[in-house]
Amino acid sequence: MSTTLCEKVVREGREFVRVPKGLANVIIDQTTISGVDPEGKETIYRGYLISDIGKHASFEEAAYLILYGELPCEEELKEFSKKLNSERWIPTKLIDALKTVPITHPMYYGAFGVLLLGMYDPDPDDMSRDALYDRAIRIIAKLPVIFANGWYLSRYGNEIKPDQSLRHAGDVLRMILGGGIVPGDIEVRAFESSLVLYMDHGFNASTFTNRVIASTLSDMYSAVAGAIGALKGPLHGGANQRALEMMLEIGEPEKARAYVEEKLKRKEKVMGFGHRVYKVHDPRTDVLREWLSKLAEYNPEARKFLAMIDELEKAMWELKRIPSNVDLYTAALYHVLGIPKDLYTPIFAIARVVGWTAHYIEQVTHNRIIRPKEEYVGPTGFKYMPIEERCRR
Ligand code: CMC
Repeated sequence: MSTTLCEKVVREGREFVRVPKGLANVIIDQTTISGVDPEGKETIYRGYLISDIGKHASFEEAAYLILYGELPCEEELKEFSKKLNSERWIPTKLIDALKTVPITHPMYYGAFGVLLLGMYDPDPDDMSRDALYDRAIRIIAKLPVIFANGWYLSRYGNEIKPDQSLRHAGDVLRMILGGGIVPGDIEVRAFESSLVLYMDHGFNASTFTNRVIASTLSDMYSAVAGAIGALKGPLHGGANQRALEMMLEIGEPEKARAYVEEKLKRKEKVMGFGHRVYKVHDPRTDVLREWLSKLAEYNPEARKFLAMIDELEKAMWELKRIPSNVDLYTAALYHVLGIPKDLYTPIFAIARVVGWTAHYIEQVTHNRIIRPKEEYVGPTGFKYMPIEERCRR
């Protein structure tokens, strides 16, 4: 099977297009939400460079932009923030359900919790515009509360209560840290920036999963639950946790090069490197580097991890011409902020859910079911045989 080029094939008297494995370089549909510019250098959020929005916008401003297509005016932002804050809680029945979950991968808590939200929605299939946007805001606001409670209830029996007087990013960081610590302003802004940079990214694997589910006109909760499943994988959102594990295993910056050489020799992946689209540089890393450098002014762990990143990047570029990606930097940042590493991928979901819900709305508004065609290459012509005859063969 061709791995790089599309080709026309005729089957059953009809013409089909065979596309490269992994859908690499295949344009599957149009979107106005986000996408990488034609040169593959920057991602655009609704017309703005991702680095510009990542550096300057609050969670609320960026979420509004992704959902509604433009940056909000003051009144719109106030209204949106109020709505988001008022939805940042989960029903007691959901808390009770999360008290019963085992200690497991926290991404399961997200998918489970979001499906439970769907069960409590009296009309999850209402596709009117207002219902779709209200549901999107509800899911965005509640998902962090679900993750924090799934994690802290299962491990420590602690219920984490949201503080609706705080802005979204600050409260999410507070909940993720267990609810007892009020993080500093720079820490909150660095964390908020990472959420904004994670918010959307064209037709990545989880967004595509979400759009496939949306295209069947299934409900938004089901689409988000499916997307959480796709994001969990180590080649996608799971990479940030793996990148931290890798850096902890390396231990010291001066050991980074030898680690990379060994990995490449064994033809293994170095986590936090490589990207389907960015082949030279991931622009999201620039913004996160700035935050890490700010933290490094007073935090020795940030200094050490920045030095390790430098060594890893040098080695990977010299030996394989592969650039680092956003996950290498969020791994270091979240470690410096003291976040338990199993919660790194849930944080990715807490941000990317903005993109998923926006893409859900775009998909159902201009829908055609996504249903590709397979190329069956197995045997044909067998006839069913009763088990006695089959086993005598
Ligand atoms: N370490 C070592 N080699 C790599 C890496 C890596 N991280 N990434 C790609 N390569 C190699 C790959 O083995 C192949 O080598 P060769 O031509 O010798 O066989 C070559 O580079 C081309 O890579 P590819 O597998 O065709 O790239 P892809 O577009 O199919 O995969 C990727 C992209 C992100 C899945 C891959 O780079 C990877 O597995 N990276 C590690 C996991 C990771 O950091 N993921 C986070 C991605 S960014 C956030 C997100 O969107 O989720």
